Amino acid sequence: MEHVLAALRAIAEPTRLRLVVLCARGELTVSELTQILGQSQPRVSRHLKLLCEAGLLDRFREGSWVFYRLNQSSPIGALARQLLAACGDADPTIALDLQRLSAIKRQRADAASAYFRENAARWDHIRSLYVDEREVEAALVEIIAAADPRDLLDIGTGTGRMLEILAPRVEHALGIDQSREMLAVARVNLERSGLENGLVRLGDMYRLALPDASFDAVVIHQVLHYADRPAAVIAESARVLRPGGTLVLVDFAPHSLEFLRDEHAHRRLGFADGEVAEWCAAAGLGPAMPHRLPGDPLTVVIWTAQRPAVARPRLPGDGSEETSPLFERELR
Ligand SMILES: C[S@@+](CC[C@H](N)C(=O)[O-])C[C@H]1O[C@@H](n2cnc3c(N)ncnc32)[C@H](O)[C@@H]1O
Repeated sequence: MEHVLAALRAIAEPTRLRLVVLCARGELTVSELTQILGQSQPRVSRHLKLLCEAGLLDRFREGSWVFYRLNQSSPIGALARQLLAACGDADPTIALDLQRLSAIKRQRADAASAYFRENAARWDHIRSLYVDEREVEAALVEIIAAADPRDLLDIGTGTGRMLEILAPRVEHALGIDQSREMLAVARVNLERSGLENGLVRLGDMYRLALPDASFDAVVIHQVLHYADRPAAVIAESARVLRPGGTLVLVDFAPHSLEFLRDEHAHRRLGFADGEVAEWCAAAGLGPAMPHRLPGDPLTVVIWTAQRPAVARPRLPGDGSEETSPLFERELR
């Protein structure tokens, strides 16, 4: 009972109610919230702290920025949503806040598309070298539909395209990327698609800040060729997969387009089926038959691998806790 009273006390104040209304509409930084409310940053921060302590808002850091959003998973978050429904948007103060919020979202979208425009020509050139992306996406949707995951992780989410097509098929989808600019584009895209179960976070594919066995599917689409340690990425993906979970890896078959290395920072010119299968096996995953989408000059391959439904127990001295030789070879 005490936590419900604490939440009700926290929200029963005009500025804090306005903050909860705003944070129910997206992920916002303190400076954006300060801009909307027209109050000083220390004051807004104090209110936000109280709302987080009461379990109404979640706070997460992305580099030097801190974002706030309405709690999505607890009964207190659900209680807040009911209160917000009762409150409505017609109140003049709330209506003005929401207008200012729309202006901030427009500014964000403009900044994101400016970044995207700068890079779009380069990406379009690469796209023209392989099969129509719609074919790849249709194949991916089919694989995910068959796997029927509840929680999906998209590693190297970029503009969030994988989340846009796959989040509607799962309960929760999380995209991680190391580029803040890409995440800004992804946030705008997710918002435009109205996807409430898709989130993005800053993160490094070699060290996911995520618990073991927390996803039913992990997707790595057109990312692995940037990795200098692909086996380590696959091992890290396997770690966060639940028993029975599926890894879906989409990249190029071996090719010889050196300019992708020189001009587009690709570390690897595609992957052979055998090496991907070995990396998956070393990570404890059972690889399946790859699916190929031939293009000119690049062939896209979809590799899938499954974590066994019952994890193999690690026995002392069986070598399973040592770094695999494959892994070592890659770490040179
Ligand atoms: C070509 S984009 C692919 C984006 C997305 N998967 C798609 O297919 O639409 C590659 C993405 O991988 C991200 N990336 C590269 N290295 C990464 C790392 N170490 N950790 C997380 N993301 C990384 C880049 O920032 C970029 O957004």
